[in-house]
Amino acid sequence: MSDFVNGFWPWYVAAISIASILACGLLLYLAGKASVVSHAGKAPDNTTGHVWDENLRELNNPLPRWWLWLFILTIVFSLIYLVVFPGLGSFKGVSRWSTELEHQQDVTQLRAQVAPLYAAFAAQPVESLVNDPRALAAGERLFMNNCSQCHGSDGAGSKGFPNLTNVNSAWLGERSAAHIVQTVTNGRTGMMPPMGAAVGNDADISAVANYVLSLSGSPHDAGKASAGKTKFAACAACHGADGKGNKALGAPDLSDNYWLHGWGEAAIVNAVKNGKNNVMPAQSPKLSAQQIHVVAAYVLSLSKTSVAMAAPKTP
Ligand code: HEC
Ligand code: HEC
Repeated sequence: MSDFVNGFWPWYVAAISIASILACGLLLYLAGKASVVSHAGKAPDNTTGHVWDENLRELNNPLPRWWLWLFILTIVFSLIYLVVFPGLGSFKGVSRWSTELEHQQDVTQLRAQVAPLYAAFAAQPVESLVNDPRALAAGERLFMNNCSQCHGSDGAGSKGFPNLTNVNSAWLGERSAAHIVQTVTNGRTGMMPPMGAAVGNDADISAVANYVLSLSGSPHDAGKASAGKTKFAACAACHGADGKGNKALGAPDLSDNYWLHGWGEAAIVNAVKNGKNNVMPAQSPKLSAQQIHVVAAYVLSLSKTSVAMAAPKTP
């Protein structure tokens, strides 16, 4: 497809190209004539008559023939090039060559090369690919190209982007092959509605925030926390009565000291007042099912259940 936005520009560009080539030809023709300027009578010594520094003179000779022919060959080459390759406005050239086509051919060729490898990977469950170094190497490359911009090149995430190297309790969903494949294929949306009105005034919200902090043994105001305990009823439907979360709803464990959206009273008050709407886009338009299968094994390999709990993330 041509990148030109309307029908005028291809002609404009083509006209400039042709005009420049013709102008070069004309220049060569003029420069190739026997002498550059005719100073009949004035300079019998075959100079142009120009003198610098008292005695430097310019010889009045035509271009050397071999030099001239190089220029002519360049012009002929450019004309042939413009017929064969795309270069004249939106004319595609008789060879129909394009970078896009070349790229597609490369991709098709490489896909065919790795197809047997991926077919072998697909035949095994994700859980056993975790022990296959070749699958992990392929998965790592997929992860670097498609996931690291959000989840970090080490998978440890950042504020708003989940840490994929954590133990299960810190995950929004189950730390399982099925959950990873499903999330990567279809994306996911974490949705917490604004809960301020359900909790009460600012003091109530501050109290419930301190209660939430107390669940993980984080520094908190004990008085406020005990006042906030009853207010937590508004949260229990999703986060559970004990605050340990609900993976089916994607409501995080609030007692594990892992904070996706930042640690501290201010971050919790913000979550309660404004809610949270956190989206991971579906990757299925970009990745094939086989690729997702392999990247899922890599993600699973990042989080060994023995990994220590992440330190609290400060906002
Ligand atoms: C545009 C940013 C973005 C990209 C790209 C992205 N993710 Fe995510 N991912 C997110 C966000 C944001 C969430 C959390 C969504 C939520 O809160 O429910 C998430 C959640 C997840 C989860 C669930 C984590 C949990 O705790 O349950 C997994 C697994 C995951 N991503 C894997 C991947 C993999 C693998 C890739 C690459 C193929 C990828 N993501 C690409 C932003 C991204
Ligand atoms: C309708 C279900 C629902 C209710 C009710 C709810 N939450 Fe949430 N909450 C969620 C979900 C889902 C998330 C995760 C958002 C995401 O994926 O990023 C969340 C995230 C949070 C977070 C961020 C956790 C982190 O790791 O950073 C805090 C804090 C929080 N909720 C506190 C509360 C409090 C306090 C209440 C009660 C006032 C409450 N929530 C009520 C669903 C709910």
